[in-house]
Amino acid sequence: MVGHGGGEEECLPLFETKLVKGNVAYKIYAITVFVGICLIWLYRFLHIPRAQEPARWAWIGMFMAELWFGFYWIITQSVRWNVTRRYPFKERLMSRYGDKLPAVDIFVCTADPKIEPPTMVISTILSVMSYNYPPEKLSVYLSDDGGSEFTFYALLEASQFSKQWVPFCKKFSIEPRSPAAYFAQNSSPQDNTLAQEWLAVKKLYEDMKCRIESAIENGSISKDIRDQHTGFSEWNSEVTKQDHPSIVQILIDGRNLDEVDDDGRQLPTLVYLAREKRPHCHHNFKAGSMNALIRVSSEISNAPIILNLDCDMYSNHSDAIQEAVCFFVDEERGHKISYVQYPQCFDNITTNDIYSNVANAVNEIELAGIDGFDGALYCGTGCFHRRESICGGKYSKNHRGELSSILCNKMKDKTVHELEKESKVLANCSYEKDTQWGKEMGLVYGCPVEDIVTGLTIQCRGWKSVYYSPDRKAFLGVAPITLDQALVQYKRWSEGMFQIFLSKYCPFIYAHGKIKLGAQMGYCVYLLWAPNAFPTIYYVIIPSICLLRNVPLFPEVSSLWFLPFLYVFVSRNACSIVEALTSGATLKAWWNSQRMWLIRRTTSYVFAFIDTITRQLGFSQTAFVITAKVVDKDVLERYQKETMEFGSSSVMFTIIATLALLNLFCFVGGIMKIVWGMDLNFADHLVPQIVLCGLVVVVNVPVYQALFVRHDRGRIPSSVTFKSVVLASLVCLMPVY
Ligand SMILES: *[C@@H]1O[C@H](CO)[C@@H](O)[C@H](O)[C@H]1NC(C)=O
Ligand SMILES: *[C@@H]1O[C@H](CO)[C@@H](O)[C@H](O)[C@H]1NC(C)=O
Repeated sequence: MVGHGGGEEECLPLFETKLVKGNVAYKIYAITVFVGICLIWLYRFLHIPRAQEPARWAWIGMFMAELWFGFYWIITQSVRWNVTRRYPFKERLMSRYGDKLPAVDIFVCTADPKIEPPTMVISTILSVMSYNYPPEKLSVYLSDDGGSEFTFYALLEASQFSKQWVPFCKKFSIEPRSPAAYFAQNSSPQDNTLAQEWLAVKKLYEDMKCRIESAIENGSISKDIRDQHTGFSEWNSEVTKQDHPSIVQILIDGRNLDEVDDDGRQLPTLVYLAREKRPHCHHNFKAGSMNALIRVSSEISNAPIILNLDCDMYSNHSDAIQEAVCFFVDEERGHKISYVQYPQCFDNITTNDIYSNVANAVNEIELAGIDGFDGALYCGTGCFHRRESICGGKYSKNHRGELSSILCNKMKDKTVHELEKESKVLANCSYEKDTQWGKEMGLVYGCPVEDIVTGLTIQCRGWKSVYYSPDRKAFLGVAPITLDQALVQYKRWSEGMFQIFLSKYCPFIYAHGKIKLGAQMGYCVYLLWAPNAFPTIYYVIIPSICLLRNVPLFPEVSSLWFLPFLYVFVSRNACSIVEALTSGATLKAWWNSQRMWLIRRTTSYVFAFIDTITRQLGFSQTAFVITAKVVDKDVLERYQKETMEFGSSSVMFTIIATLALLNLFCFVGGIMKIVWGMDLNFADHLVPQIVLCGLVVVVNVPVYQALFVRHDRGRIPSSVTFKSVVLASLVCLMPVY
């Protein structure tokens, strides 16, 4: 699908969609792999050991695991079949729509001033306030679910600092426009005029940061500061995080021509919101906060386009907003588009991405692949929405929403005080009672990964979506820097997604006939993460134990049946290496991702699966408490050296260590048995298991180091070592058949 090139400038499209090169080659390759998988199934089926033979059950288990892997592989083809790339043309947009650009509301959500420090939050806010976009068309909203006076104070400071920061950014075209990131990445410039202003702005920024941090350290806001703004009167002695009325404060009123930056230009509107919280009233987490933002902003600025960001995700590209707008205003296809999702990228990733946070192949291939079936996922952050569609509107052909003509005239004649008063009501607990909010309108309630479900319901109302991954990343967040955090995060995601699969939102049922089959399958690639756990565990335990017992589970190397196994294994890995390298990862990062793949499947997904099932049956769940989120200097140092961080005695670490040791024992034991006293003909049968077990051992080298070699505080604690040695030995001694 290529836009109609040529002709006059007027009819050139604002974006193009292109199929990635190599698509045909990939399809041919995929068919050969599919044949290989079928042959594997056939082999397993034809060679099931007879009832008396010892390996019968082990064999049947292998067959089941391979059936699942094959089935899951077929599902994943949906996200590789039609990988597409999007190309917006922001120059065309600017020349054609210069002063008719649609207004954009930017929502930033924060939940807890301890986990998400206010200084980080305001860096994100400042980065989005300084977009290269007409400021009178921008409004920035901060939703503070922590209801914290300190966050409000930080935002107030940011509103004052923005008067210097925004003109500074624009004058010198600096990037990135988050002051924290900018000053961390850049040292004092050579250029003399810039150098002076640079120093002055840096000092202002640091003084501001210092004031905010010292207020937080003191635990209270001094009377001097309180007197600066009437907004502080909202925080009386009764306000707590879980119990307070709605607070809405318009810190910068974009209409007010007196509120200008130091260069005399208008500033974006800036609003603080803490929706009402009451102990008896369920707040629905981030979805609830987004819905309150949607309503409050409709009263104040009512922009037709909404950008939704997490508070740690700063803008790394000051033109990103123009590129996103291209998709919405394209004359030909723009009116069908509901949202534009950007990939989740991170600021603090080490070269070889030890915890495989970036998932290059997922970002560059899989998510772009679902987009090929018009099924781009909504991932909860870094996403531009059309207000109309997220508010529950159905797509209809006849209606062409003229984005630029929806003016924000609603607020024109009201005073700031009136606006604040009226929008407070919209953020009250009781407002949503007996409405469609959380069902048909806004973000859907009741799922831990509400964003994915919300995206699905929007697509089922007839809208299209876009996944756009520019080379220069538009938004950068903060990645987890310990193994614990990384695994708990994946547990939460995989659990939430598996719940969706089992709920009424299962794409094969809910979206049947509404979105393409490829998109339904694409959703299931993620929704079915958790069930991968048990086949994977089976595959890394049983063949190894059978190796120790000299029970072959694969065809001998000299048999023709061995070929499909070899082909599927080698070509799958080769393909995965190629995918990783072409999406910008290093070889070592790929290798690390293989380890994380194994670890996630044998820990996070296991608990996610168990918890989902017990929840369905009405029992309670396992609870994982995130240990200290505040970054310890030690921990950070190890992260930067790419050393895996264990350190605590989580059950997850016991599983990781046990599996690693079990394979080590089996590998050593199996080799010794073969070398001493076995005829080599029999070894022919065991080669595949030796290789499999050997690979598990090699990929786990950092785990052995953490068990036995390292002495730092991030090593595996001795209690875990002890438990896992005992467990692994017991399993080795246990009869398997
Ligand atoms: C990662 O983020 C933390 C903030 O949470 C920061 O202190 C640290 O310097 C970052 N690390 C890297 C390697 O960028
Ligand atoms: C962030 O923006 C800078 C330009 O300021 C660019 O050099 C860098 O590559 C971007 N980061 C990512 C991860 O794309």
